[in-house]
Parts: sequence; structure tokens; C-alpha cells
Amino acid sequence: MTDSDFPGSKLASALSQPVSVTWQSPSNIALVKYWGKTGRQLPVNPSLSMTLSNAITVTKLTALPRETEGPVELDFWFEGNQNEAFGARMSKFLVSINDIFPWLTQVRLKLETHNTFPHSAGIASSASAFSALALCLCSLDNEFFNIVLDESEFRSKASYIARLGSGSACRSLFPGFTVWGKTKSLPGSSDLLAVPVSEVHPVFTTLNDTILIVNKKEKPVSSSEGHNRMVGHSFTEARIKQAGINTGELLDALKTGNKQKFISIVENEAFTLHALMMTSADGFMLMEPETVRIITRVQQLRKETGLNICFTLDAGPNVHLLYFEDEIEQVNKLIVEDLLKNNEQNLRINDLYGTGPIKIN
Ligand code: DP6
Repeated sequence: MTDSDFPGSKLASALSQPVSVTWQSPSNIALVKYWGKTGRQLPVNPSLSMTLSNAITVTKLTALPRETEGPVELDFWFEGNQNEAFGARMSKFLVSINDIFPWLTQVRLKLETHNTFPHSAGIASSASAFSALALCLCSLDNEFFNIVLDESEFRSKASYIARLGSGSACRSLFPGFTVWGKTKSLPGSSDLLAVPVSEVHPVFTTLNDTILIVNKKEKPVSSSEGHNRMVGHSFTEARIKQAGINTGELLDALKTGNKQKFISIVENEAFTLHALMMTSADGFMLMEPETVRIITRVQQLRKETGLNICFTLDAGPNVHLLYFEDEIEQVNKLIVEDLLKNNEQNLRINDLYGTGPIKIN
């Protein structure tokens, strides 16, 4: 799929009645991190993620009749309320893809969205939100213009559109493990959209991801701002090279079922992401003392117990603890008795390997 695959059609006549579509789409956790972008939302390095199961956004998009064409008109509802800040980001995205979907200015749009995960935990997921919206847009586009695509072509189209909303969102369209960004380690990989990883040892389909909440407040530097700080970063060249190598190595670990290799690459990526933040020209730190305590403890506990546990971090202080189904009981004990011991509310979100978005009729 390339830019020229979007003919950019207009509706022949105004809609006579509202048309609605609903999708639910999950978030994903990056194992090799996307950090730095260029051009029209193109990544500077390949990334690899696991699609999750429980952190889901459900989005209903309705196109309503409109008499005359004009600027994008969006009525945005989040969790049953009008949310200006989020609505503004969604509007900006819709305006930016008007060249791809010219019909966006021929209808009025109503977007109703809610998350299945508690917003009290401060896990705002642009990945689930933009992938769900992209799926709705692609469904409407197919319906308006009688476009027939097979399942894989449809997901690819939605991945392409999701990328334009939020880079990491393009990886949420597929089950399991996904790569976004061209890499010689995976034929067919692309900067324009994500592709699913097909060769995965069954042990990795039993991965759990428990998010240990360190701080639920909004982070002081957004991901989008963090990507900007990679421009002119002195480590850029080395980082791009490292991400390519880590992607290849992780693909190999996933294929062969090599847990040790998986753990060492995943932690290396988490440390690198935060090191890049700290060493950018306008350096910043998103880890908190408790983040450092937990990740240090995870490494110690792995040595002491022999359990296959490891951590990754997103652009924030919360720790994603990764572990396998067969050790779930022992790990849960460690979470409660040790890793969350300073967390009065025991705040965590349990998630796991997921099977991708679902259309809701
Ligand atoms: C640290 O996808 O949120 O989570 O493209 O600006 O929307 P935008 O950024 P975003 O960046 C995610 C960064 C990350 C790593 C990752 O998910 O790969």
C-alpha cells in the first residue's frame, strides 16, 4: 500500500440519511521503541510491539447529511461528555487527511468514544483511539464507494490511516506482534504502515503485561514533543542502527521461543528510550524514584527467583511488567508483596497478548 492507493473520491451526491459504524481497537506496548519521526508521520527507526487485550477504545462514527460542503464539522463525545482538548486533536487529524478522504467535508461527523480501561490510572492511549477511528473511517469509505478489500488489505489501509493520527496506532490493527518501519529483517515491512509478525513461537502468545502505576498524572512532556527532541540528537545515527539490530534480534527470539534474548532486548530498549530523553538537547526525565526502585527490583528478583520477568517503559513513569502465563501465580505474589509495596491503592492494570480490533454490529 502506498500514497497512490488512495484515489481521494468525493460523494456523487449528499447523504440522504445517517450512516454509522462502530469498532473496538486495542492499545499496544512497544518492545522496540518508535522514537523520532520525519515527514508525514514516518518513523526514523523500525519498532516492534505486542497488541494488548484489555486496554480498548470503542468508537462509533456517524456520518450525517449536510447540505453544503464546508470545513470538517465534528461533534466529539468522550465517555459520554464533550471533551474539547481530545476533540481538537481528532478534528486536526480529520482536517489533515481530507486529501485522502475528500468526503469528510461533505458530511457532518459525530464521534462517540469510550475506553474500557480506567482513566483514573492515567493511561491515555492514542494508539487505541486512533486505530479505532481509522477503522471507522475506512469502513465508511468502503461503504460509500463500494470498495471491496480482503481482511488483510482492509487492516493495512486502516493501519496507514491510523499512522497519520498517531504513529504507534498503526501497530494496533493486527493480532499479536507487529512491526512498523522498514527493516531488512522483515520482508514487506514499511514506513507507511505496520505489518503483522507471522513467525511467533507459541510461548510468546502467553505473555502478560501488568502496568504498575507509579503516577497517574499527565506526563510533563508528551510523546509528540519527545519525538521532536530527537531532531538533531547527537545519538541519532547510533539509535537508528541499534533499533534495526534490536528488531532483527527480537524477531529471531520470537520465532525461536528464546525468552532470555527477549528479556535482554526488551529491557535494553526501555533503558535506551529514557536515556534518549535525558540526553536530548532540552533533556528531560520521566522516570520517578519509584520507577527506578521497581525496575531495579525486577532485575534483582529475576536473578534471585529465576522467573522470566522483565520490564518495559513507555514515555512515562509507569512500569510494564512482562511475564509468561506459566509463572503467573508466582509473579502475582511478587507484584503484591514487593513491587507494589509503596503503592497504597495497589494500582495496576492487568493486560495480555491480544488478538486485535473487532467490528461491532
Ligand atoms: C514511547 O505514537 O504516541 O510509546 O506519533 O506523536 O502520536 P505520535 O507519538 P506516539 O509515540 C509513542 C512513543 C512510545 C514508543 C512506541 O509506542 O513505540
